[in-house]
This record gives sequence, C-alpha cells and structure tokens, in this order.
Amino acid sequence: MSESTDLFHEAYDRDDIAYGDRPSAALSAYLQQAQCTGSALDLGAGAGRDTIALAKAGYDVTSVDLSERGLERIRQRAEANHVLDKLQTQLADVRDLVLEPNSYSAIVATTVLDHIPAEDAAAVWLNITNALTDQGMLYVEVHATEDPGSGIEPGLSTDAPVSETANAVINYFAPNQLASWATAEKSRLRILRYEERLEWDYTHGPEHLHGKAILLAVRAGHHFQWHGQPIAFPRKS
Ligand SMILES: C[S@@+](CC[C@H](N)C(=O)[O-])C[C@H]1O[C@@H](n2cnc3c(N)ncnc32)[C@H](O)[C@@H]1O
Repeated sequence: MSESTDLFHEAYDRDDIAYGDRPSAALSAYLQQAQCTGSALDLGAGAGRDTIALAKAGYDVTSVDLSERGLERIRQRAEANHVLDKLQTQLADVRDLVLEPNSYSAIVATTVLDHIPAEDAAAVWLNITNALTDQGMLYVEVHATEDPGSGIEPGLSTDAPVSETANAVINYFAPNQLASWATAEKSRLRILRYEERLEWDYTHGPEHLHGKAILLAVRAGHHFQWHGQPIAFPRKS
C-alpha cells in the first residue's frame, strides 16, 4: 500500500506515534498472569503497542498490517526493546490470511475487524477462532455503534468529538454482537472479560471519544490462574 492510500501513514510517521506505546489493558492483565509461550498473531498491528507487549511476555509474534510505515515502526520498537528476534512483520490484508487450525497460542485483533466489511469480519473471525490452540487466548477490540463517528444510534446522537481516523472504520458492532460471536458454540471460547464502554482518547490527534466492545477469551476448557482485571481478591502472601 502506497503512502497516499495508507490511511494510517501520517499517524504512524509522527514522532509521537499514534495509539501510544501502552498495550490494551485487558491484554496486559492476561500477559501478566498467563504462561506466554508459542506463536502469537497481531492482526492490524498498527505501530505495534500490543506486538511489543506480546514479544516481551515471551511469544514469537507475527504482526500483520496494511501499513508499511506501521510495520517499520514496529521493527524499530522491537529493536529498542531487544525483542527483534521474536518478531516477524507481514504486509498483508487480514482477509487474505490462511491460518492453520490449532496454530497460535495468542491472537490479538485490536480495532481491525471494524475496518473491514461485516461479512469479511465474520470470515476472519472464523479463521482466527479455528487457529487458536487448545490453550490459546484471543483478544479483540472493535468500535461499536455507541461511537460518535458511527452514524448509527446511539452514537449518532452524541455530540462528542470524533477520532481523526474514524473514516477508516466502516463496520461498527451492534450491542452484544461481539459477545454473541464469542458465545457461539462453534467459536469454542471461554470469556474472561467482555465489556462495552466509552473511552476518551488522548493518544493521537485532538481529544475524542470512542465507543468500543472489548473481548478477552481463551479456548473453552482451558483454565489457569486468572484473577481478573484488575486482579481481584489476591491471595495474602
Ligand atoms: C485503529 S488502527 C489500530 C492499530 C493497533 N492495533 C493498535 O491498537 O494500536 C487499525 C489498523 O488496522 C490496519 N488495517 C485496516 N484494515 C486492514 C486489513 N484489511 N488488513 C490488515 N490491516 C488492516 C490499519 O492499517 C491500522 O494500522
């Protein structure tokens, strides 16, 4: 994708790289509490805030994005964090990936299923839920109809400021939609955390509001020492 067609080139080219360098909070909580080995896939990885956290936690990570500038920034950040040897970058459309069943211990898709048409998002969902290992983790974040940029109620009636990159979001998720995907029997997932929420965002462009749905899940039947986010009722030492 050339600079002129890459909707995110300028956002990732800045000194103050868009979306910051802190990983998504629920993902971060998982990485602190789980055993992080094997292969991970970061879909729509952007400039890599989640990729770097996955690699530092111990995974061998493949970061997939359409933005060459984003992937360059990921390689720079990986080098600075001494995890370049744990990283592969792939300039590709997530819709073109053919994933082997049972092949990834962790799959992250932070705001990418909402950047592709609804029927494509459903196909990618099937692909990624099949690709998780028996002890695999899935983290997904999508923009929801509560977002002021959605053009759909209730976001439509919100007069809060809209994100500078809202034009790239074309598929706003309805209330409970991501939850119903996650609880469908064929997804074979167990939900650790699901939330629909509003977020004020100061990580890029002028102050703006997002409406999001957030899912952290593991393969059904997989149980480990998960104490929530934030950790609730820790054992006294
Ligand atoms: C809002 S950004 C999120 C970036 C990153 N996940 C984060 O949270 O920091 C969405 C990213 O998805 C990428 N993207 C959009 N459509 C894509 C597609 N069909 N295949 C691969 N990447 C895509 C964009 O280039 C962009 O980097």
